[in-house]
Amino acid sequence: MSGKNNSKNSKEIFKEQFNNDAFRILSTILDLQVELFSPVEFQTFSKYLSWIKHNPLLDLGCGNGTYAMAFRKEYPEIEVIAVDSNKELLKDFKNKLKNNNDEKIKISHWHAGNEPAPLLAKKCRSALLRLVLQDVFNPVAILRTLAEILPTESPVIIIEEDDSLFQIDPECAAFRRVIDIWEAYVVKHSVSSRHMGRCIPRMAQEAGLEVVDVHLLAHSNIRLGTERLMNFFKLSVELFYALDSTLFEEGEAKYLLTELDSFVSKHGRKCFFLYPQVVTIAKVI
Ligand SMILES: C[S@@+](CC[C@H](N)C(=O)[O-])C[C@H]1O[C@@H](n2cnc3c(N)ncnc32)[C@H](O)[C@@H]1O
Repeated sequence: MSGKNNSKNSKEIFKEQFNNDAFRILSTILDLQVELFSPVEFQTFSKYLSWIKHNPLLDLGCGNGTYAMAFRKEYPEIEVIAVDSNKELLKDFKNKLKNNNDEKIKISHWHAGNEPAPLLAKKCRSALLRLVLQDVFNPVAILRTLAEILPTESPVIIIEEDDSLFQIDPECAAFRRVIDIWEAYVVKHSVSSRHMGRCIPRMAQEAGLEVVDVHLLAHSNIRLGTERLMNFFKLSVELFYALDSTLFEEGEAKYLLTELDSFVSKHGRKCFFLYPQVVTIAKVI
């Protein structure tokens, strides 16, 4: 993990870099990630359901809330306390909730690791962190905070990506370039690690949690469709261009989008395309 820029916290990075374009694209990516991947994530949780049911569940880093709302639909008996450090995303979430009127979701601002936990978070009896620790400077400190505020035996579910586990066959140079740009962004802006999935079990132990189980989820183009799965990577090109266009050569973003499209039309379902996630199930000791 790079620590070049430790003096800046993630809130400052978001403030500096999240222009309107990036914000809109991020929200679309979050929605698409829920649509594509949450059904298999929920299947994985079902094994632990009676345990996770310890109400309420803290959704730390809830983003625009699409995931929390899908989670509540799947598990109506679980109350969710959703927190995030990004006020714009929370505003989005609150607007969505207005139309949905779900009293079992409560929202609070919290920049975990940087300020004391709000009262609502201290009431929680289980926690979920989905694609959050890859975006923070101090993942172990955040897990330590959770270990402090949750009672002993509380379950903690952590879902992360690990980009070197991405698979595409036949080889696609444009796809590899997108992964390299992603990596370059992470290194340049010192936002954690692209290999967070494999780091979590070790980090959880370091933070004083006991790792109960680790699952590797394989989301493939066979179930999701090559075009839908590739859409997620195309949106990533747009997001990184909006965040930092200097990572791209002149005209490269457009070129990559065209190349990714032509990969899909050439290979369709006849390719092998895998987006893996690592799900770590831990508990407070
Ligand atoms: C990639 S988004 C994931 C959102 C949501 N969990 C989902 O799966 O759709 C990561 C979120 O973590 C939030 N975040 C990052 N650092 C945080 C911190 N220290 N405390 C609270 N939220 C944080 C960001 O603001 C962002 O909304």
